[in-house]
Amino acid sequence: MQNSKKELILESTTLWDFPTQNYGDKPHGDNKYNGVTPAFIIWNLLQRYTKENDLVVDPMCGSGTTIDVAKELNRKVIGYDLNILRADIIKNDARMLPLQDNTADFVFIDSPYSDNIRYSDDNNCIGKISCENPMFFDELEKVAKEIYRILKPNKVMAWLIGDQWIKKKFTPTGFLLYQRLEKYFETLDIICVTRHNQTSNTNIWHDRARKYNFYLRGFKYLFIMRKNTC
Ligand SMILES: C[S@@+](CC[C@H](N)C(=O)[O-])C[C@H]1O[C@@H](n2cnc3c(N)ncnc32)[C@H](O)[C@@H]1O
Repeated sequence: MQNSKKELILESTTLWDFPTQNYGDKPHGDNKYNGVTPAFIIWNLLQRYTKENDLVVDPMCGSGTTIDVAKELNRKVIGYDLNILRADIIKNDARMLPLQDNTADFVFIDSPYSDNIRYSDDNNCIGKISCENPMFFDELEKVAKEIYRILKPNKVMAWLIGDQWIKKKFTPTGFLLYQRLEKYFETLDIICVTRHNQTSNTNIWHDRARKYNFYLRGFKYLFIMRKNTC
């Protein structure tokens, strides 16, 4: 539910569908940023897993959606990215976070899913590696280890990712990442988030999917996981 700010209601099932990137009357992130996260995903997560003054960290915060939602909810927040679009984002590679161990109360991350989007010219951008290359998951695992390190014990992180179907080949990007995350975190739940605003969401692509017997991507995974220290 997200008609107006007054009517914001927490999601109660594992299927989330937000037709617009933003909610309320103020921007959260930049809905023109390629790959921007629907702000209501972050709103739901912060409501459930954090409280006021908690420290929220986003290691790949892009246009700053996490920063805007967290500030609005009176959480402390640090957003990093290699592609710096705003003064309140710190330039940093997510594989080496400049934070002490056990400092963050919550981490949100919406990482690249493959090399489908050009985010910046920075050669360290993980979005320059195809998810068909196992190295893609090795690099994301380095990010996962850092998230584990900076999270306080028993605190939660959420990772948004989608699969890939390209040139007649399916890659279960979500499952392949999940296998890496399981090494470090305990799963609290997995949410399916409906995909909107894709360039392939046109009649031509829907016709092609039927004619050539493939499926357009309809959802992303949101892995909600806890740093379990025992
Ligand atoms: C899907 S976008 C994130 C969108 C963001 N949540 C928002 O709402 O705007 C993925 C981001 O990962 C960043 N990125 C890719 N590799 C990175 C790395 N090694 N370290 C930090 N950021 C990286 C990209 O620059 C891009 O902004």
